[in-house]
Amino acid sequence: MAIKSLDSAKKNKNDEFYTRFDDISEEILGHKDYQEHFKGKVIYCNCDDPAESAFADFFKLNFEYLGLKKLICTRYAHSKLLWDLYGKDPVKREGYKLEITGRNNCKKTNINGNGDFRSKESLELLKGADIVCTNPPFSLFREYVTQLIEQKKKFLIIGPVNAITYKEFFPFIADNKVWGGYGHPKKFIMPDGGIKSLGNVQWWTNLLINKRTERIELVDKYTPDRYPKFDNYDAINIDNVKHIPCDYFETMGVPISFLDKYNPEQFEIVGITKTPIGSHLRTKIYNKQEQISKDGKHSYVTKLNDGPALCVEEPPKNKTYYRIKDKLYISPYARLLIRRKK
Ligand SMILES: C[S@@+](CC[C@H](N)C(=O)[O-])C[C@H]1O[C@@H](n2cnc3c(N)ncnc32)[C@H](O)[C@@H]1O
Repeated sequence: MAIKSLDSAKKNKNDEFYTRFDDISEEILGHKDYQEHFKGKVIYCNCDDPAESAFADFFKLNFEYLGLKKLICTRYAHSKLLWDLYGKDPVKREGYKLEITGRNNCKKTNINGNGDFRSKESLELLKGADIVCTNPPFSLFREYVTQLIEQKKKFLIIGPVNAITYKEFFPFIADNKVWGGYGHPKKFIMPDGGIKSLGNVQWWTNLLINKRTERIELVDKYTPDRYPKFDNYDAINIDNVKHIPCDYFETMGVPISFLDKYNPEQFEIVGITKTPIGSHLRTKIYNKQEQISKDGKHSYVTKLNDGPALCVEEPPKNKTYYRIKDKLYISPYARLLIRRKK
């Protein structure tokens, strides 16, 4: 048992970075539209050692201001931090829960399991909670969100931006069960007190916030020259969300940053390229192609099939491109495939 636990702690090493109080405060207190959701609610932080977590501190401090009914935090007994601190002392490493129902009403109790968010006891606590708020282990993000959706819970959590490319997560986005929050936290605290910078993290939520109903103002007009069609998807390419044309109603491929502005009244998401999830939308599969990399190196690959491909007249400068017979192609970054609704 001890060996298995140590293994899982080692595996979870990359999950051990802590959210900064200021990032939580900026997201929740910085946007008044969140606050009405919290009034009278039971908040559950299910990956949060109450002694370490800024989520615990934030909700304790703002318990009355947000008008919370209850705060519950559970500590995961196999966290890397606890192994480092108390590896030889299983009692000190035990999972426990903290329940707070008011400024001076705080109860700490042992739990039977290890505090794993999937454990029986944590699941029971989840069922009794209204909103889950945390930064969960990224290595288990797919499973974590799936559990929240299955349990029909409201949530505000931190997770990777590229979760959109996970085959388990993308349908939640496309079906409007999850959307982006406001911020992209960039700095996290490491167990040794150091700072870890992450450029690809964001808030994910299913709480109805104002930005969800704001429309993108579209001003540019469609022309075939400015918005070429991909060679292997039936969609036009758009390099910047602000240039989505106001008069185009077929499928468009936009950068993933579109999600920050996505209003389901205005657009629908029909797919995503550069992941197996979008492969059924491809209209063409290429044979092996010659890749000419930025530094001029030639090799034979099948990479053009991984994502959207655009035909170009001239070899691009300082950019990898591909050749099949006498045709040249470039492969832009992953694109969300979207369509206007109205
Ligand atoms: C990214 S850290 C964030 C910690 C804290 N929620 C915060 O925001 O500061 C994720 C935490 O989840 C814990 N964890 C890992 N696997 C877990 C599991 N199966 N159940 C609950 N917590 C887990 C890790 O030990 C780690 O402390």
